[in-house]
Amino acid sequence: MKEENTINSEKLPQHLAIIMDGNGRWAKQKGFLRTIGHENGATAVKRTVEQCARLGIPFLTLYAFSTENWNRPKFEVDMLMKLLVKALKKEVKTLQENNIKLNAIGNLDLLPATVRKELTEVLEKTKNNTRLTLSLALSYGSRNELIEATKEICNKVKNNIISVDAIDESVINKHLYTHNLPDVDLLIRTSGEQRISNFLLWQIAYAELYFCDVLWPDFSNEHLLEALKVYQNRERRYGKTSEQINK
Ligand code: FPP
Repeated sequence: MKEENTINSEKLPQHLAIIMDGNGRWAKQKGFLRTIGHENGATAVKRTVEQCARLGIPFLTLYAFSTENWNRPKFEVDMLMKLLVKALKKEVKTLQENNIKLNAIGNLDLLPATVRKELTEVLEKTKNNTRLTLSLALSYGSRNELIEATKEICNKVKNNIISVDAIDESVINKHLYTHNLPDVDLLIRTSGEQRISNFLLWQIAYAELYFCDVLWPDFSNEHLLEALKVYQNRERRYGKTSEQINK
């Protein structure tokens, strides 16, 4: 794709995370049921995953279902779970052909058995793929992730497996669902909302944040390229001065 040549492949985010927001509003604007918004959101997922693989972004994490989303009407939750099963069944072949490894983060025990079964199969089938790791955040909440990590670490201290003094960033990292992923470099949220909504709180400590007004089902390859261009023009200082970074 011609437009993709305008991106500096040396300066791509290693880990891109996306809060895919606006499916419901997209549907409402068109007079459709919210569920149609989610179906079109799934098409945008496919488009975005394929583009990230093409561009050479090695880690993509998508906020597909939060712990708070369990509070939505049962009809919508059921539909989202069915959509997930359908997408997993349908896309496993594309994942294999494109050398994409599927990963899942979140409290997966809360997912219905049908989803867990399909997910386990696709995770197993794609586990040796190396081009892109696609992590789906499912029944995910960052505070919950941190609570679980804290409990595990406390148990290890109690059982003399680690000492309190040995607890550092790498120990915390190892106990998160994202233990096998690098920190997030770029976080995108669609639909005009400018909040983090309990997503990857620890992992976005130094991420660049990018908010755009487009509703998730309309998020196109051009929108991603625009976000990447903005990212590539940001100066990431990690607390240092501009002069230190540019010397
Ligand atoms: C947010 O829009 C979207 C969700 C809560 C679900 C995300 C699901 C998909 C993109 C489709 C399926 C995903 C996969 C991985 C196949 P919203 O419903 O909060 O929209 P609103 O804020 O406009 O109501």
